[in-house]
Parts: sequence; C-alpha cells; structure tokens
Amino acid sequence: MRADELRQKYLNFFKKRGHAVISSASLIPENDPSVLFTTAGMHPLVPYLMGEKHPSGNKLTSIQKCIRTGDIEEVGNETHHTFFEMLGNWSLGEYFKKEAIEMSLEFLTNELKLKKEKLAFSVFEGDKDAPFDKGAFEIWQSLGISEKRIKKLPKKDNWWGPVGETGPCGPDTEMFYWSDLEVESPSEFNPSDKRWVEIWNDVFMEFNKIKIANKITTGGRLYSSSLDENILEKDKKFIEILYKFEPLKQKNVDTGMGLERTLAVINRFDDNYKTELFLPIIEKIEKLSGKKYDENKKEMRIIADHIKAGVMILGDERGIIPSNTGHGYVLRRLIRRAVRYAKILGIEKNFTADLFEPIIKIYKDIYPEIKKNQDFINRELEAEENKFRKTLEQGEKLFSKMSESKNISGKDAFLLFSTYGFPFELTQELAQEKSFSINIEEFNEEMRKHQDLSRTSSIGMFKGGLADAGEETKKLHTTAHLMLQAMRIILGNHIEQKGSNITSERLRFDFSHPQKLSDEEKEKIEKIVNEQIEKKLPVWFEEMSLDEAKKIGATGVFEHKYGDRVKVYFIGKENDNFSREICGGPHIENTSELGSFKILKEESVSAGVRRIKAVLE
Ligand code: SER
Repeated sequence: MRADELRQKYLNFFKKRGHAVISSASLIPENDPSVLFTTAGMHPLVPYLMGEKHPSGNKLTSIQKCIRTGDIEEVGNETHHTFFEMLGNWSLGEYFKKEAIEMSLEFLTNELKLKKEKLAFSVFEGDKDAPFDKGAFEIWQSLGISEKRIKKLPKKDNWWGPVGETGPCGPDTEMFYWSDLEVESPSEFNPSDKRWVEIWNDVFMEFNKIKIANKITTGGRLYSSSLDENILEKDKKFIEILYKFEPLKQKNVDTGMGLERTLAVINRFDDNYKTELFLPIIEKIEKLSGKKYDENKKEMRIIADHIKAGVMILGDERGIIPSNTGHGYVLRRLIRRAVRYAKILGIEKNFTADLFEPIIKIYKDIYPEIKKNQDFINRELEAEENKFRKTLEQGEKLFSKMSESKNISGKDAFLLFSTYGFPFELTQELAQEKSFSINIEEFNEEMRKHQDLSRTSSIGMFKGGLADAGEETKKLHTTAHLMLQAMRIILGNHIEQKGSNITSERLRFDFSHPQKLSDEEKEKIEKIVNEQIEKKLPVWFEEMSLDEAKKIGATGVFEHKYGDRVKVYFIGKENDNFSREICGGPHIENTSELGSFKILKEESVSAGVRRIKAVLE
C-alpha cells in the first residue's frame, strides 16, 4: 500500500463516520510558547479539548505533520523519527471509549487487513490520580481479544499528555502489531519485546492537569503553597511543583496513528526506512557515499531522518533559520548532526541539496510548502553546511587538543558551542565515542551566564537601544517599526530584529537574513515605508498578555520574558494596521511627522545577521 492510499483510507473511514477533515497545522505551535514544535495531532486542538467550540464540529480527523526531538537519541533504530506524520481522529465531547476502540479495531482489521492474531493492546493500570481503565480493558475483551494480549501498564506507558506542563490529558490504550516476519506472534503480549511495534494510540482525554502550588520549605518547615505570604521570597526553598488532575468539561477522544510505522507493517517491512517515505533518500545516501545501507544502517537512518526534519522545519510557513537559540537551534543541531554522520560515511562534499531532491518528490503533493519554499530551503541547508564544515575542522582540532587530558572542562565545551558552533550534544557524543568525561555542571553554569548576558543586552536593545528620547530619536524608532514590517513583506517572515541602536541622526538596525539585499529589495522596502508615512497613520499602543500579543501576530522577541503583560505598538487604524510590535516605546504619534525614509547602507554583521543604516531626510 502506498502512503497516500493509507492517508486517504484513514480520512475516508472517519469521514464516513461523521468526522470533518481538517488540515495539518504549522509545525510551530501558534499559541503555545511552552513547546517549540507541534508534537501530535491533538496539539492544535487543545482549546477545543478544553471545551471551546471547533468551527468544523465535534468529530474531526486529520493528518498532522509533527516534530519530536525528545527521541533524538533513539533515531537510528527502525521506528523512531524526528519528523513524522500522525493520522488522527477526535471526539470533542461526543463518542467515548466504546466507539473509539470499536472503530480502531475495525479500521485495523477490515480496512488495513491486519491480522487480529498479530495485534496486542495495553491499558492504564491505575494510580493515585485515576483508576484502572477497566472500561477499555473490557471493551477489548468483548471484541474477542484474549486477556493475555491486553497488558495493564503504569502512567509512564499508558497516559498521554499534557503537551506542555499543564492541560488536557488522560489514560490511553495503545495498539501494537507483531513485526517479525519469521517468527509467529507469541500468545502472550510482552511490551518490552521490540518486535511488538506500537502503531496507534487512543487517548481518553477526560482530565485537565493543573498546577496547584509550589511545594516549598523554609527554616525546616514545609509549606505546601508558594502563596503563603508570611514567607519572604528570599527564604523560600523550592522543592517541587504540585499538580492536580481535575475532570475536564467534556470527555474527549484523541487518537494518533504513526503513518511511517503503519505503512511499514502493512507492507511487511521490518524497517520504516524501507518504505517509500525514506527509501529514495537512503538510496541517494548510498550513491553519494558508495556504501551499502545494510552495513551502515544507523548512520544512514540518522542522515535521512535529520535532513528530512530540517527540510520540513525550513519549509514550514513560519520561516525558521538555523541559529543558536530556540527553534533555530534544533534546526542547526539536526543539520549539523547529519553532516557529521555523513562525514563518518566518507561524504566530504556538500550533500544536503542532493538529499532535498528525493524529499521534495516524496512530499510535494501533500506538503506543497516544501516546493514553494524550495529556494529558501536549499539556500539555508547549503549555508549551514558550509558554515559547519569550516567550524568542524577548526573545532575538531581544538577538541583533540582539549581532550589530551581525557577531560573536557565545561568552559571548553562552552567555547566549542559559542565560538565554534558545536551543539553541546555533539561535544557529548564525541566525548562519549572517545570515552572522555565532560564537566556538564560547569557547562550549564557557563550557559546560564551567557543567557543572563544576552537577556541583559536584549533589555538594553529595547530600552537603551535608544540613545535618548528626543523627538528625532523617537521618529527614527517609529520608522524602525515600519521598516521591520516592510522587510517582512519583501523578504519574508523569517526577518526578526536582532538589535538596534538609534541616535538623533540615524537608525541602525540588525536583523536575521542569510544574504545581501539587492538594490531592488532595498528600493521596495523604502517605497513601502514612505507610502506608510504618506498615509499619515496613527501610532498607538495597547497593553495585553504575551499570549494575546502572539495571537494577534505581533512581532517581538517572545523567548524573553517581559513580564505577564506587554505593550504592543500599532501603526495604522484599529481594524487595518500596518505594523504590530511588542515594544516599550517611546514613539511619535502619527507617521506624518516623519520625513522621507532612505536606506544608506546594508551590510553583514555576523553569520545570518545583517545591518541596515537608514535616515529620515
Ligand atoms: N496524542 C496522542 C499521541 O500523540 C494520540 O494522538 O500519541
């Protein structure tokens, strides 16, 4: 069966049973700053699982692209991937366990023609938060599944969610398929036998995990609430956070089936990398390295997985580029890890663009954004690869010098990270391969200092970025908002402010962009800014929570905590504004006060960061 046939079968099956088909959300969660990537089909549905009305109804189905980085060390085996697709169906307060389990079994056995004798199941065994899922256990039995094939497992195996720290979650029942083609499936299900591959998960989301208090001690006394006002802040010793599971407004079903794994088992492959979703990429790696997959499985799987995930992140509508923080760091780590494994296979020349070819072919129809953004993706892959090859050489020399003592200090590991662009995990891997030790605590300490520093400088960037608060400075500051928005329109949404320095004479502005601006691009930016000036737009602000600011699409550095509430500056009318930006101010009141905008110079500051100098004439 082809991947597309499986996708269609799934959606059609649930469509016939009253579910509305919804499309895949972005890989970068819209309103959830607590996690970097969309990790499951339910992720974009959190508000609806909590009781909001979904515009498409109470029964939904989708194919969601997902990124999970928690399993990155496991990538290299047959079944774990950083990027994968999740087929899912949801009941928002409609059907519950019985219907969900019946539909799952029907789909597996009737539609996919998987043999019932090769299926096994697990259910939640119960603990202090929620009881044994007797309901799910008995429903499986009533459908003819023998007790030996239904295992009761604890929370760590059979409980799903919440995605971040708090939110909807519940017990789940997981479905496994016997993958060994040579050996008969044993009558008793043993969950630790890896030949039982988990393919589907039905979660019964009826709980909301909420934080009730921080457990703290002071002077030997234990308090169960951080809200106790008799304790001075400085005397509080943080112990642990206490959570509670309260019933949700409605009982939901959230299911997730791994496309890659399921495709492998129905086609009787013992390895996901042999399916059409990976094979062309593996074949390309074989060709580039002149080596055989069978003898280099781990390396080839990691390369294929990581470059595919990198392409998907780059191709997403949100315009992430490699960097040293947040999403960009994950992307950088994936590409660099792939390059290192390629080097192990003897691939010394740039190869990421070669692998991009089969990846486009595999995904262009289902994720057209990959094709649409192909130039951007190619450029970024290539740039990151070049950068890394250079630093890798220097860094590896330094690494071997450092490790003469068979011991890498945290300071050195940090130097490798900050100056040579070595992801810390890479230093760890290299150290592990050579049995050197690393001082992780010292590294973390250095990292913390670095983060404090950059936080301080970013506060400086928004407040002290202005040399004074005189009229001319305020004018140029307001112009910077117009310019940022104009650049996002002309160059793309990956443009972010990296710093600014504004005096009464000129505006200096650093931003993320991989290459030099063309004269035409500069002219277009100038034109847009001047048009806004001519439109005599009002400049005003509103205070709101960081979440609201994100929701309305305000730009700003969200990684930094500004405190709960932020000021968002708008330029334009209330219902039709040109720019929305989180900012402390100060600004002028109307763009008519600005003169005519001109870019004087555009140059590079550091890797991936450019600088514009501009004036008002
Ligand atoms: N959210 C569950 C999972 O990711 C089911 O969709 O497995």
